Amino acid sequence: MAVRIETQSDGIAVVTVDNPPVNALSQAIRQGLLDAAVALDADPRVRGVVLLCAGRTFIAGADISEFGKPPQAPRLPDVIARIERAAKPWLAAIHGAALGGGLEVALGCRWRVAEETARFGLPEVTLGIIPGAGGTVRLPRLVDAKEAIELAAAGRQIGAAAARDIGLIDAMLGQNLREKAVAFLIDALSKPWPTILCDRPASEAPADFWDEQKARIGKRARGEIAPLRALESLRRATEQGFDEAMAFERRTFLDLRDSEQARALRYVFFAERSAHKPPEYDDAAPRQIETSAVIGGGTMGAGIAAALRNAGLPVILVERDQAALERGLANVGAIFEAATKRGGLTPEAAQARMAGVSGTTDYARLVDVDLVIEAVFEDIEVKRAVFRSLSGACRPDAVLATNTSYLDPNAIAEAVTNPERMIGLHFFSPANVMKLLEIVPAAETADEIVATGLALARRLAKIPVVAGICDGFIGNRILKVTRAQAERLILSGATPREVDGAMRSFGMPMGPFEAQDLGGLDIAAFQRKAARARGETPFAPVADRLVDMGRLGQKSGGGWYDYSPGDRTPQPSPAVAAIVADAAALSLSRQWSAAEIADAIVLPMINEASKILGEGIAKRAADIDLVKIHGYGFPRWRGGPMHYAEARGLEEVAAILERLSADGLAEPPGAFLRAAAKRGGFDLSQQ
Ligand code: 3HC
Ligand code: NAI
Repeated sequence: MAVRIETQSDGIAVVTVDNPPVNALSQAIRQGLLDAAVALDADPRVRGVVLLCAGRTFIAGADISEFGKPPQAPRLPDVIARIERAAKPWLAAIHGAALGGGLEVALGCRWRVAEETARFGLPEVTLGIIPGAGGTVRLPRLVDAKEAIELAAAGRQIGAAAARDIGLIDAMLGQNLREKAVAFLIDALSKPWPTILCDRPASEAPADFWDEQKARIGKRARGEIAPLRALESLRRATEQGFDEAMAFERRTFLDLRDSEQARALRYVFFAERSAHKPPEYDDAAPRQIETSAVIGGGTMGAGIAAALRNAGLPVILVERDQAALERGLANVGAIFEAATKRGGLTPEAAQARMAGVSGTTDYARLVDVDLVIEAVFEDIEVKRAVFRSLSGACRPDAVLATNTSYLDPNAIAEAVTNPERMIGLHFFSPANVMKLLEIVPAAETADEIVATGLALARRLAKIPVVAGICDGFIGNRILKVTRAQAERLILSGATPREVDGAMRSFGMPMGPFEAQDLGGLDIAAFQRKAARARGETPFAPVADRLVDMGRLGQKSGGGWYDYSPGDRTPQPSPAVAAIVADAAALSLSRQWSAAEIADAIVLPMINEASKILGEGIAKRAADIDLVKIHGYGFPRWRGGPMHYAEARGLEEVAAILERLSADGLAEPPGAFLRAAAKRGGFDLSQQ
């Protein structure tokens, strides 16, 4: 039985929801809860009800896999209303996570108690919807409007202590939740019962408060609809009666549930979960990793070391000499210090994390480590020398990984004894923050080593994507196209500011020129030099001139934009305009709308991504979407470039690319994209 009832001799009925893996509110659970409320009200032995869940969590929300299918009775709002008005009052006893519909059920109960490790949230906005069963209406009747906004419109999740502090739960209980919840309820039954939320007034806030919140949430949403709609629903809940507000919330929920944004966000939700288990490695068992080392304590090495420590792994940091080692250790320390300043770590926790990092310049210290990640200079000879040293110093079965961005892992593997244990693990900067991990098997890499990379990603709370070998793997290969397109646009009449503004409007956190100024123009210039040495012809006439002039971005006081000292606000640069005018003399020049600019950047990305899929560098279109969302800030609510292309129509994408290519502004659609357009999707199984 998915919903079980046990009536104890003390008059407390315990209702247990048991619907693995996360107790989602499927039709059977909704029906079971409704039946339980009716049956327990009719049972004279029962005085009160404890609702708890089996397995690893409380109810984690509505069953997302039911969205998009015809709704089945009973509706969740009706189930919750029945629980709320039950004659025998309910108490929710929460462990794990009470999310979305799960928290809404808890809000329908008269009391809420939780284990110390429990989490709470209304993450519906992250799925493109708003709570649909009273979340935005009951919450501001229990907590302050500001807190309600954080949970329901910003989608923030909070722990049990914070939930208790804002009044979301009545008590935080330790272990033995069932026993303690029953005792709490027996005591509570003997005192005056709290008023059910539907009968309480909402917390009030002045009109200018709502205007401020609208500006704040709207800015953060960057084109995503749901957060502002959730805010509107919260506002109505404070200004209207309960029933009217409930009707508004439900209408908005149903309207958004069928929207393109919600479809895209559901697609990403399931893609992220599938990313951890690519079927190609189903049969491979990961190696146990208990100890680790990082070679190189620069930007990436320090971030990787911090990420490993955050996941509880001890780290040995190796540098080329004592001075570099001290800098490297300081780099790692600075990361924990910054986390402490932001309030993400207590000073004691930061100290403990740092205590788990030891430094050395002696490879002999690595005799017993399970995993080594190399992050030294991007130079094949330096990397080979490092891997030769590692081959001599480490156990023959230690996993050896490179964080190279552009070098060929096969060329590095030549320096490794037992090369089947060597792999690319490509982190993104800052490595302790960015969610993406490209896993790049070399020709001889064993499947169990790939499985080890996948397991490591889960442990580090990263999204893994297995990528084949090509220049830049999946993400940086597409990035090269983005940059070249941005440059084509400014040579065709658009300004850097227009291009950046258009891409922000599209939903990117930053435009391509601002991003280059922030990261520095030198790294890409170095790549172009290497590509030219290989006989390739990368397109970057303006960027090349800027680098020659020493305009490397913010760090040199100017790049695509000018910067006043101490000010990071980009200012249009007359120097850049002059280079563009010079270089663009023979090109077409016209006005560009924001939509045309976005097309001229995003559609060529899709074209390159299609080639990557066609070549087997990525195994699934969804993998490319995850790379662009988690590594490059592609708007999640658009589902990533491949989902966006399919939603827009591949025929249309191909036709626009044809037109851009006829004007010399992009490459024509590749064979794989054209074939996908014909069959109506990227799914390789339909070939
Ligand atoms: N519906 C359907 N399936 C769900 C689900 C849900 N709400 N939540 C998780 N799952 C599935 C996952 O797809 C995954 O399936 P798989 O094993 O076949 O890949 C499995 O449950 C386990 O999920 P995770 O790998 O994410 O497990 P974790 O232990 O890492 O995380 C969790 C558990 C924190 C509960 C996380 O799954 C999560 O955040 N879930 C989504 C919660 C959510 O968004 N709830 C709101 C739903 S919308 C709603 O409630 C509308 C309401 O207002 C009417
Ligand atoms: P960095 O220059 O900041 O750091 C490199 C570190 O390696 C320096 O501290 C240097 O002292 C050390 N080092 C050099 N030779 C060494 C040796 N023989 N033994 C031990 N340590 C040595 O470089 P960054 O940016 O951290 O890049 C490192 C690697 O990560 C490169 O392969 C790069 O392509 C890759 N990468 C960089 C990203 C970025 O955004 N910076 C993103 C993803 C990958």
